[in-house]
Amino acid sequence: MTTKLEATLLSKKFGKKVVLDDISFTIGEGKIVGLVGPNGAGKTTIMKIILGLIDFDNGEVTIDGSKVSITSHQALGKVGALIEYPGIYPFLTGYDHLRLFSTNKDTESIEHVISELKMTTYIKRKAKSYSLGMKQKLGIALAILNQPELVILDEPMNGLDPQATRDVRELIIGLAKSGTSFLISSHILGELSKVTDEMIIIDKGKIIKQVTMSDLSADSAHYLVIKTSDDAAAKALLLEEGYELAKDPEALASIRIKKTSDSILTEVVQLLSQKNIQLQDVDHQDEDLESILLELLSDSKGEA
Ligand SMILES: Nc1ncnc2c1ncn2[C@@H]1O[C@H](COP(=O)(O)OP(=O)(O)OP(=O)(O)O)[C@@H](O)[C@H]1O
Ligand SMILES: [Mg+2]
Repeated sequence: MTTKLEATLLSKKFGKKVVLDDISFTIGEGKIVGLVGPNGAGKTTIMKIILGLIDFDNGEVTIDGSKVSITSHQALGKVGALIEYPGIYPFLTGYDHLRLFSTNKDTESIEHVISELKMTTYIKRKAKSYSLGMKQKLGIALAILNQPELVILDEPMNGLDPQATRDVRELIIGLAKSGTSFLISSHILGELSKVTDEMIIIDKGKIIKQVTMSDLSADSAHYLVIKTSDDAAAKALLLEEGYELAKDPEALASIRIKKTSDSILTEVVQLLSQKNIQLQDVDHQDEDLESILLELLSDSKGEA
């Protein structure tokens, strides 16, 4: 796989505060990499460094092997970005923005972006009348307009309604299939996981975990959720037999048993019937990604 971006041992302080501490990762061609972490983790700082917008203390960033820094921007010609808030001129129309920032002024590619992001109805209106989501879509349109090879998107789903979120997601996946690489930040792991191939989880400037999506879901816990004629007795029995029960965050009247083997359902059915407890309902549940993220973050705090 060809490496599009390589960040090596990036460190950055603001004053005395360490905000990035030995951050290293790569993005392959056509890969969508997610950058996830709580507020203040360092996501935007990483993106600004990649874009040569701010200086850093140590490390190196290369795009297609060429170094990027605050004074060296040549490699950024093939990079599109949306960082924090899109810079939008209120008295220009969305269309004016696209024409202004289009490098080849090609009407066809401008029209293509407008239709992909479903912006036709308002694109000729002045941007001062745009809603938050409309501005955000215009920002995304500007980031992908010039067929970049690498796209950096900071919280792209901010302010987007469910339909727009899906449109943007499909657009990103389509572009990645044709070879565009992406680095996308979010603090919502669940949303990001619908597009990414890999995930970098950061907290307080450090990478806590870097995983492919398939490893992340393989690592996640799976549960058997049951409802019985006597849940209290069933719970006591299962605990006595050494089964691991999950705490029920929504306090639903059900029992969640961690799946430790494929035969767990048969075992549980037998165990309950021996004690004359009737099984009334069975369901299967996967641990949701936000719980995994919170668990990883709390583990990392424990180690600190
Ligand atoms: N210009 C600056 N001067 C001083 N400190 C800064 C500056 N920019 C960022 N920081 C600090 O660096 C840390 C990382 O900030 P950053 O904006 O990268 O976080 P983030 O992960 O993008 O957070 P969020 O999810 O809130 O966008 C924070 O502690 C922040 O206060
Ligand atoms: Mg940020």
